[in-house]
Amino acid sequence: MSREIGFGIVGGGMIGKVHADAINALPGTKALAVWGRSEARVNELAAKYNAVGYLDYAQFLAHPGLNVVNICSPSGLHLEHGQAAAEAGKHVLVEKPIETTLERADALIEACDKAGVKLGVIFQSRFLPMVQKMKDAIEAGKLGRLILGDAYVKWYRVPEYYADSWHGTMALDGGGALINQAIHTIDLLRWMMGPVESAFAMKKALRYPQIEGEDTLVGNLQFQNGALGAVVATTSIKPGFKRRLEISGERGTIILDGDAITVWEIDGEPSLQGDAAQITDGSANPAAISTEGHRLQIEDMVKAIREDRQPVINGVEGRKSLEVVSALYAAANAQQLIHL
Ligand SMILES: NC(=O)c1ccc[n+]([C@@H]2O[C@H](COP(=O)([O-])OP(=O)(O)OC[C@H]3O[C@@H](n4cnc5c(N)ncnc54)[C@H](OP(=O)(O)O)[C@@H]3O)[C@@H](O)[C@H]2O)c1
Repeated sequence: MSREIGFGIVGGGMIGKVHADAINALPGTKALAVWGRSEARVNELAAKYNAVGYLDYAQFLAHPGLNVVNICSPSGLHLEHGQAAAEAGKHVLVEKPIETTLERADALIEACDKAGVKLGVIFQSRFLPMVQKMKDAIEAGKLGRLILGDAYVKWYRVPEYYADSWHGTMALDGGGALINQAIHTIDLLRWMMGPVESAFAMKKALRYPQIEGEDTLVGNLQFQNGALGAVVATTSIKPGFKRRLEISGERGTIILDGDAITVWEIDGEPSLQGDAAQITDGSANPAAISTEGHRLQIEDMVKAIREDRQPVINGVEGRKSLEVVSALYAAANAQQLIHL
């Protein structure tokens, strides 16, 4: 029987609870400590998970038995929180996006490398069975030469969402709908289509003009393999739809609708179209995401520690979607084609 892996949660907000639930659903792992700013929230979470709550970050990192620190704070704090954890000798599992800029992402990757600790970046969708099935088919060449890869994230967020202290700010969110919401689908698009060669985009804050970032972005990508792609990222349209990832090659098309495949049309294979079973995906309600993907990714982190290997989505892998996001933002800001 392997020893228990102890986890500490940084930020007991919306996603911190998903981490704690996922950790405690796994055998041989336990959420031992929680850090946050508000005493009431920290105490509530600590009581719920039978963990110890901290307001002091150094004391939290010194909690006995802590092996992994889960960074669930606002995105622009991931570097400071992750770096301090790495320097304290803890493995780091950071929420998406890895950080708000490539420079800050690189500093976090370097800090973890220097400390000799593992760095995992949460993109839980990659671990879901239907997503794996789509990736495997594309990897096996079933679609033939790739032609189009599109990511549509047409979501809705209520006004209160942007009325807090960090959503939509450049310092803590790094932008808006693209970097916060659509990055999951951008990550899948980049993973399945391969590296991006160039990007163009337009962005606006249409429903929420008070935010620094965008609530609506449309963009175009050219992949290194020559294929083209469209990106639509928004939190401004009602009622909000499931995210769609559409990949087409010379031999057919696969469409992921939410977390289910709804179109599987490939030459020589039985065709599938229609409503497949849906897993809740947060298209209109950020709290409606399933914990399944997090459970599977945290399980991979535990295995990586036990087997002394890299987590499947390590820092370098988790940075790739931020590189695409950054290029789309640079293109929108400069109104010119950006080569990666
Ligand atoms: N993988 C996913 O599907 C997914 C989904 C949602 C979010 N996320 C990511 O998870 C991270 C956290 O998002 P969330 O939705 O959980 O946010 P949230 O509900 O607002 O929670 C943020 C947490 O960070 C703490 N915090 C520390 N310093 C803060 C500061 N200066 N301003 C605001 N909060 C601060 C807050 O403490 P107090 O409670 O004490 O205020 C709170 O516990 C983000 O990077 C986000 O992109 C990922």
